Amino acid sequence: MARFGVQPLGHTPHPAQPSKCGHQNDKLTISLFHHLTTLYLCSMMQENITRLRADIEAYDITSPEQLEQFRIAFTGRKGQLADLFDQLKAVPQEQRRAVGQELNQLKQLAQQKFDERREELDAAQNNAPADPTFDYTLPPVPQALGTRHPLSLVREEMVRIFSRIGFNVAEGPEIEDDWHNFTALNFPENHPARDMQDTFFIAPTAPPAQIENGELATDETANTEGNSPFANLPTHLLRTHTSTVQVRVMESQQPPIRSIMPGRVYRNEAISARAHMMFHQVEGIFIDEGVSFADLKQTVYYFVQEMFGEDIQIRFRPSFFPFTEPSAEIDITCLICKGKGCNICKGSGWVEIGGCGMVDPAVLQQSGIDPERYSGYAWGMGIERITMLKYQIKDLRLFTENDMRFLRQFEGA
Ligand code: DAH
Repeated sequence: MARFGVQPLGHTPHPAQPSKCGHQNDKLTISLFHHLTTLYLCSMMQENITRLRADIEAYDITSPEQLEQFRIAFTGRKGQLADLFDQLKAVPQEQRRAVGQELNQLKQLAQQKFDERREELDAAQNNAPADPTFDYTLPPVPQALGTRHPLSLVREEMVRIFSRIGFNVAEGPEIEDDWHNFTALNFPENHPARDMQDTFFIAPTAPPAQIENGELATDETANTEGNSPFANLPTHLLRTHTSTVQVRVMESQQPPIRSIMPGRVYRNEAISARAHMMFHQVEGIFIDEGVSFADLKQTVYYFVQEMFGEDIQIRFRPSFFPFTEPSAEIDITCLICKGKGCNICKGSGWVEIGGCGMVDPAVLQQSGIDPERYSGYAWGMGIERITMLKYQIKDLRLFTENDMRFLRQFEGA
């Protein structure tokens, strides 16, 4: 013990063994400390509970997002209530029960608020107002139903009729290039349809932006080469017929081809009762081995009878189109005067509904289809003309004027 030769002078109490008096003092200190901590913890807890209760009560929930935020902040696994439940462990045994009960009440309050708001929001979402003063016996405010446009009705009817005999629907762009509208269809360069007077050409404003398949594309060679007097014509135009889609279908598929192509077309015409600068056509094409004019006639007969009824007369009038050989116009009995002669049929008793013919072998060839092996027929019909005949409409302008008195007549049609 006296390792360095120093003798202890007297008895020094071991620090781990306090004197009796000191022991009592410490006990007092500890119990006071314990008491104060308890008080402190309890009052902190109390304060937190009060604050949380106020927060929960004041929280505004008017949307599903706020509801979710409420859940995360208060009742969720990492929310403030879970925090307080964690702290409960530190609260002394004697107070824990009471504080725990209070916490449970608070949890119930938060859960109840959450459930109520959720129900209200769900009800609001289902259009069932939770407002008890709402009178469910009130008659509804009538909702005016729109009507289909007569041109849509007829277009859809045409699609239905042709789809019954195996035709599918193909579509193409309204802004076309010269190739698909004219060149691929055998139109010579000096054909009148290529004249600015008949066709809406698109001025090439900012080269090299050009339009390809209805989208902007680059075409550096466009009309800058060649010595033709037409070389400076713009390269793009508003399609003058739906025969453009015929070319697009033939370029992208091999026979058998059996498609119809409904769409809007444009021509530079003065608007009158009989003509418009914008109208609609349904093009059709059938290409396979051994297809003849007899097939074409049969298809047209079938269509006309389905559309107008069995008593309708049909005639094919020889005509010319650059892309068909032979070509014909399709006339049917004038339905306005039943064939007696009126100003719509110009006294003839017949009205033209479209053009048709056997696809010219040169057109097949240009589109990549072997004319030695395949043949086909095509037609193009005006939707306006067919609609006018079907519904006895005497003025083409009615289709675009949006006159409700006219459009309402097609309710339920
Ligand atoms: N494209 C022609 C026009 O708009 C109509 C037409 C005639 C289309 C004969 C055809 C056809 O497919 O074979 O006047």
